[in-house]
Formats: sequence, C-alpha cells, structure tokens
Amino acid sequence: MGKANSKKPLLEALINHNKQRQQPWHIPAHKGLGKNWLNPIEGKTLALDKTELLGLDDLHDPHGVIAAAQREMASLCGCQQAYFLVNGASVGLQAAILASTKPGDKVLVPRNAHKSIWAGLALAQAEPVWLPVNYDPVWQIPLGITEESLAQAIAANPTAKTAIFVHPTYHGLAGPTNNLVNMAKKANITTIVDESHGAHFAFMGDPNPAAFSQPSIIVQGWHKTMGSLTQSAVLLQNDQTLPIQSALNMLQSSSPSYLLMASLDATRAYWQDEGKELGQKLLVLSQFAEAKLSQIDGLICLTKKDFPTPVVAKDQTRLLLASQTGTKGWVLAEALAKEGVIAEMADNYIVTMVLSLVDSQKSIEALAKSCQRVVKKLPAGSPIAKQQLQSLPWSLSVVKILPAQTRAYELAAIPINEAAGKIAGGIIAPYPPGIPLLAPGELITPYILEILKNIIKGGGKVQGLVGPKRDFLPTLKI
Ligand SMILES: Cc1ncc(COP(=O)(O)O)c(C=O)c1O
Repeated sequence: MGKANSKKPLLEALINHNKQRQQPWHIPAHKGLGKNWLNPIEGKTLALDKTELLGLDDLHDPHGVIAAAQREMASLCGCQQAYFLVNGASVGLQAAILASTKPGDKVLVPRNAHKSIWAGLALAQAEPVWLPVNYDPVWQIPLGITEESLAQAIAANPTAKTAIFVHPTYHGLAGPTNNLVNMAKKANITTIVDESHGAHFAFMGDPNPAAFSQPSIIVQGWHKTMGSLTQSAVLLQNDQTLPIQSALNMLQSSSPSYLLMASLDATRAYWQDEGKELGQKLLVLSQFAEAKLSQIDGLICLTKKDFPTPVVAKDQTRLLLASQTGTKGWVLAEALAKEGVIAEMADNYIVTMVLSLVDSQKSIEALAKSCQRVVKKLPAGSPIAKQQLQSLPWSLSVVKILPAQTRAYELAAIPINEAAGKIAGGIIAPYPPGIPLLAPGELITPYILEILKNIIKGGGKVQGLVGPKRDFLPTLKI
C-alpha cells in the first residue's frame, strides 16, 4: 500500500483556489461554470480520456468522427476546412507559418504579435519584417497597424510571402483587419489572421469577424472566448493549397487529448444552436456592465471612442478599467484581487476583465460593488495625461540576428542594469499578454530596459527573466 502523504503542490493549489470565493473575470470563458454545454464532459474526465481506439478516429489522419466534428466546425465558421488544436492557438499560428513559407521567406508581422508567432518564424526559418504598431499615447497599449504602414511594407518588400494580422488585440481592439487582408491578397501574399481573442465575433456583429475577408488562414482560441477547455483552439483554412495537416502533424502531440477535442465539439454545437441568443445576451450584458462601471466615482470604463486610429472597433466583452487618478493597473488589479475579483490582465494603467457567456447581471453587479469599494481606498497615482512617449516601444526593436539563427549562439546571463547594448537571448514578455518586449536576436536598448524596469517595479509579471532573483536577462554570447 502507498503512504498517500506525498506532496502535491500543484493539485493542492488548484483545489484551494476553487475553495476561495472569487469573481472570475478571466479566461477560460467557461469560468468553471459551463454547465450547459460541458455537462457531457464534466465529471467524466477519466471515462472520456481515450486515445485513437477503433471508431474514435485519429487527429493526425482524420477520416472518421474527428473529421466529421471538424467539418461541423468549418461549416459554422464559414471556412473550407477546420482543424482542432490541442496546444492552443499557439500551435495553429506556428503551423500556419510553417505551411505558408519556405526557409528565408519574408513575413510581414506586426510587432505586437504574440510570442508563439516569433517561435513559428524561428521554426520556419522565415525572416520577419516587423510592422510598426500604433501605440496609445494615454493608455500606453498597442492599438494595431495602419493601412498606410502595410502599404509601405508591401511596397518595400515585394517578395514578402506571408502577412500576419492580429484581430483583435488582447485588449479587444480591432483595426481595419478586413481591409489589411484584402490589401495583402491583392499583392499575392498569403494571409494569416490571429483571431485568438475573437472567435465570438461572428455572433456579435461588431467587430467584424476575420472570416469576412476570407484570409488564407484564421486561428481562433476557443478556450479564450467560447467556453471549451483550456488549450483547445481551432485553425480555419480557406487556401487549400497550404499543407496545414502535415505542418500540424509535426507540431501537435501524437496523443491529443480527446477531452479537449470533445470540448470543442460540444462548445461548437452549443454556439451553433444558441449562438444568436448568446451573442445578443453578451451585447446586452456588456452594455449593462459599461453603464454600471462608468457610474463609479474614480473609475474609468474605456470604450471604443477612447481609442484613436487605427482602432475601428472594440470587443464589447473586454471590460477595460482604469483609475481616474492614474493608479497603476497592476496596483488596481492587486487591490481587486484582495476583494476576490480576479482580472485577466493588468498593465500600466488598464485592468482587463473578460465578460463571457456564463456572466449575468448578478455577476456584473458584484463586480461593480467590489470596484466601488476598492477604488475608494486606492492610493493616488499621477493623473493620467497624454504622455509624450519618445517613441513606441514595439516599433523600436532592432533586429541584429534573425530568429532562426539565434540558436547558434551560447547564452550568457547579464544583470538587467548592465544589459544595454547586448543582444537578447530569450523572449522577455510581460505575461499576459505575451507580446515580447525583447526577442532573441534583438538589441537591448536603454529605453527597452526602462520599460522593463517600470513593469517589474509596478508589479507586472514578466516571463523570461533568469537568475535566482530573476534580475538577469539571457543574452547571446557574440
Ligand atoms: C494575440 C494572441 N495570439 C495567440 C495567443 C496564443 O494562444 P494560446 O494561449 O491559445 O496558445 C495568445 C495568447 O494569449 C494571444 O494573446
């Protein structure tokens, strides 16, 4: 008999987490409450945890029930073919890059792309052409790229093979994506839309879903906004010439979780049956939330009109909150967490909450009450004003070594304060959103270090730091 007293730090933390009374304003969209559509799975994790048995098909060579489930997904999403992803949207983006490029091909990509895209470019040995990203001068968050900057990049890079667009950003901001896709298509460029945060757009009316412009590939994170299990996502293909299946087979597990795939099937069926009502419900709830939260003294609830070009729409299910007195977003999020309100993300000024299909007027009223209590007690920061940002951090990356070549170098850890002038050896990314502040091969500038130190000082979580106190940066030994 075993002694049953070994430690289980992760399991115990998860169980304890559930015991706390919390208001989940974060991903995954089911928020642990997805009773309706996940009922067939809940409580049956062991019974449904199968592998490629007779009658259960094979994700790497689907011809049976997985193929049928993927066909249903494709039909709902209005694309030619759908692929289930068991390693999040990340693996879909990487497969899309692998399938659409040959080594050395140029890829147009906005600098606010998720870190998985950098990894995809490295794996594919592609050459990124980073597109400058407009940055909000007040809220200091990325807004997106303009049609003008894409036009310039296309003109300057006539051999570009693929272009990637982020629709929407983590904050739910959407630019003129359909126009951008059409511009790239006209130039014979393969188009990939990272719609990780926008699978629900098809049911909301505004922003427009990426499917409108029929890009070659769309990648959607169904776990983020639709209600399937964490890590489940979908790749949607319109350009049948791209070898997506073989790219995915190189990257996905040969033992994909049937629980994840079944959760996609169940969630898709739910939206297929109820999507119109769910979209309407989300719209009504988001208006209710905006009205409630914007009444709170000392709190700002940002809407589309708060953001300049190139923003053309805002996902109403992302609630963007800020303190009127300029308290840092990280401080506001921490104060809310002490009240049991768990946000999805915080940055310099903004705290991002995710409204999902399991929310209700009751959950929004509870959020508003907690915000009211918290905001009253907040320490004042410096009032928010238009900053004269000397330049835009994400436009500033100076690439010294291409992604695919960085692995040829040894690594050296250097204290953050001494790293200016060195070349980054790892992805340094505030998380969320997972947008690299530095990626391997990029020059570490004093300005980037200033931004990094501001995030660390503010209490932001940063991935990629090394050393026992996490105050070193990985660099390339050159
Ligand atoms: C814009 C964007 N794209 C891609 C991803 C990767 O998604 P996943 O976590 O499903 O792999 C994320 C994750 O946060 C993201 O924010």
